[in-house]
Amino acid sequence: MLAVVEALPPLEVTPCPVTVRIGLLGLGNVGSAFARLARGARDSLRECGVVARTTAALVRSSERHRPAADAVDIVTADPGLFFAQPFDVVVEVLGGVEPAYSFVRRALDGRVPVVTANKSLIAAHGEALSVLARQRHTALRYEASCIAGVPFLGTFERRPFASRVRGLTAVLNGTSNAILTAMSDGIPFETALGNTQRRGLAEPDSTSDVSGRDAAEKLTLLIRRFAQLLIDPGDLYTEAITVLDPLDLRAARSLGGTLKPVAQASWSDGSLQAFVGPAYLPDRHPLAEVHGATNGILLDGATGRQCYIGPGAGPDVTAITLLDDVCELASEERVRTPSATVARHVTPRRPAEAAWFLRLAGDRTIQETSELLGAYGVWCARTVSVERRVYALTMAVSAERVQAAAEAMHAATGCRILTIPALSAEAFEC
Ligand SMILES: NC(=O)c1ccc[n+]([C@@H]2O[C@H](COP(=O)([O-])OP(=O)(O)OC[C@H]3O[C@@H](n4cnc5c(N)ncnc54)[C@H](OP(=O)(O)O)[C@@H]3O)[C@@H](O)[C@H]2O)c1
Repeated sequence: MLAVVEALPPLEVTPCPVTVRIGLLGLGNVGSAFARLARGARDSLRECGVVARTTAALVRSSERHRPAADAVDIVTADPGLFFAQPFDVVVEVLGGVEPAYSFVRRALDGRVPVVTANKSLIAAHGEALSVLARQRHTALRYEASCIAGVPFLGTFERRPFASRVRGLTAVLNGTSNAILTAMSDGIPFETALGNTQRRGLAEPDSTSDVSGRDAAEKLTLLIRRFAQLLIDPGDLYTEAITVLDPLDLRAARSLGGTLKPVAQASWSDGSLQAFVGPAYLPDRHPLAEVHGATNGILLDGATGRQCYIGPGAGPDVTAITLLDDVCELASEERVRTPSATVARHVTPRRPAEAAWFLRLAGDRTIQETSELLGAYGVWCARTVSVERRVYALTMAVSAERVQAAAEAMHAATGCRILTIPALSAEAFEC
């Protein structure tokens, strides 16, 4: 005889929400977006089992009126008062290295986990802060500091085998990418920069973006994370995008590609080759389609090549990533402390050999230019003439040789040569 089994009503499990008291270091663009998001997303947070409250925010001057102040219990310019509050997590969005470093150390030292969007801080002191977090059995998250809208760093942290990466190529600075994208439509640099600033995609002072400094800091933190190698961002070979003009982008298109603000690194046996600056990408390269303020990263990983593309910055995007980090910390049963692997210092070298995108000014035919370059052992794969310039894509040759050729030709003919690395679609190595 069959037993009759009555359908049981579904079990209703109501998890007890965890209250998270957030200390917010900074209430500027990102801090304000974060405070408003944390308050506005109360219901969604509760569904994730989190009751988040921004209990204090530290600013430089407490006199200014701040629209986001009503999303925070206390806004103060007094670090003593700020740190007297009990926090479950500290979110750091001050920017710069000091006093951010001292404040983050203070939080970690007190076993309070820290979430930050500050690439300058992590590039300069990421290793020391990770070691401290580990010693205090607490967490340090910096997902929002590099390609803020694409949460890939945390994913790799949870997957130690997948994160055995050998190299990466990336577009890490949205401002530079937006400028070069506009220049590829014939818009001059200054106009492109102004338009980017007006649309809120660039800081009023964009020096760090266009000089490559911002991308160098992000590359530094990625190299520490994936290669366990410590470098000073100032040691990276870095070229500003200001060396380019719209004719260069037109020539790149005629040669079957484009020019992008690239950060690239590859490593093996503890040695590192890396550079930051404009690079020629053939149209088939996955990053050639990353336009405007969008960022992208290609990782040459244990499971093959992987590509992540998405928004790189913006206060709202960054706030979402910060809040996700806070939620993850609140719901983690076991504190995910930073990796115990100790990174070691290394001086990066410029990639040893590459194909090059060359610009030669002056009234010279393509044949004369090819012969001149050939005389110095630099062989052209493709050439094009645009107005009074000749552009060439070379075969792979060392940076020293192409530099020597450029200097010799300048001395002999007075003609200055611009040399930009040309990446291949197939390999990460130039
Ligand atoms: N903006 C973005 O889209 C974006 C995207 C990703 C990552 N980030 C990173 O997020 C961080 C913040 O960027 P942001 O654009 O929000 O900067 P911001 O608008 O300049 O805000 C900085 C905040 O920190 C406060 N602050 C600065 N120095 C201080 C000090 N010595 N003592 C106390 N408070 C201080 C400022 O106080 P006052 O208000 O009194 O001046 C301000 O509230 C940076 O690390 C940035 O790289 C930004």
